[in-house]
Amino acid sequence: MQENEIPPLGGYSDAELDRAFAEVAREVEKTAVSLHSAEDKEQFRLAWLGRKQGRLKLISDAWLKSAPPEAKKQIGQRFNALKAEIERLLEMAGDGPAASELDAEAIDITLPGTRRKLGAEHPLIKTWNEIVSVFQRMGYSVGVGPEIETDYYNFESLNFPPGHPARDTQDTLVVAGQERKPLRDRLLMRTHTSPVQIRTMEQQPPPLRIVIPGKVHRNDAADATHYPIFHQVEGLCVDTNITFGDLKGTLDFAMKAFFGSSVKTRFFPSFFPFTEPSADVQISCPFCGGSGCRKCKYSGWIELLGCGMVDPAVFGFVQGKQPGYDPKKISGFAFGMGIDRIAMMKYGIGDIGLLYSGDLRFLEQFA
Ligand code: DAH
Repeated sequence: MQENEIPPLGGYSDAELDRAFAEVAREVEKTAVSLHSAEDKEQFRLAWLGRKQGRLKLISDAWLKSAPPEAKKQIGQRFNALKAEIERLLEMAGDGPAASELDAEAIDITLPGTRRKLGAEHPLIKTWNEIVSVFQRMGYSVGVGPEIETDYYNFESLNFPPGHPARDTQDTLVVAGQERKPLRDRLLMRTHTSPVQIRTMEQQPPPLRIVIPGKVHRNDAADATHYPIFHQVEGLCVDTNITFGDLKGTLDFAMKAFFGSSVKTRFFPSFFPFTEPSADVQISCPFCGGSGCRKCKYSGWIELLGCGMVDPAVFGFVQGKQPGYDPKKISGFAFGMGIDRIAMMKYGIGDIGLLYSGDLRFLEQFA
């Protein structure tokens, strides 16, 4: 059909009216598919709905003029419906660029791409990954646990009973509004990664060798060596006949793998409620070889981690869920180290806050 031609109407029966209007509607749809810009839409609106020369007006004039009075209402109603449909199509069409503008924007595939700057691993994450991979090479798997913990997992099941003075060594951030719950169910921000020892044993029977890196929280005022957030790697090994000798050998090997083969380790008696006996581990200063320097405060040694043999009472807490942890049949060792401290020592970072500052001038040094 020509654009300005009036489509023929072959009578006034409902069927013929339906056919004739459907034909006009098809023409409307055909012209509506290419509406992109505001300009396109305005042209379409004028062409169809223009008050004097609009196509709808011309067709309705032509069809109504020759129609018998009793058909006029039918025809009028159909024109109204068609007009509403044209308005709907106009509303739906986007205000995007016109087709001509699109051509101008077409992609030039010969242009070089936009180069994205490659990020660098954060020194903390780098250290985290290095420590974890040393233990992975020794056959350890890697675990995770929640940062919001219950009092039970963070303290009680690790043999810190309610009111035990050892709880005071870990100044705890507690979740508000927990007072109505029994103490063991109250939520807190975990103060160490040790609760994941219990969670892992509850899930898996022995033997077990696992490291758990993660974020911990304490109510410490920030200074050069303290921050309310820091990170630890927890380690746990449980099997038959695990001895303190295995603990010493494992940690000595791991420290040599991480800091270099000339590093020595030494173990001092210490106390943790969940290990017995417990020890603090020092390494000979990897920077001066033990002769004394600023990094080891001229002592030749650096204290790095806590460890010990898993206290039988801890296995006792797990046994209800995993009977395999019978302290008469199995034994194990555990250790925990601070990632931040190790990263600061390794990279000569004097202020822990820099690790959390998000300051690119600091971070770009590690790129
Ligand atoms: N959880 C202890 C702390 O944050 C560190 C620790 C010490 C973990 C001895 C251990 C361990 O697994 O055996 O102070």
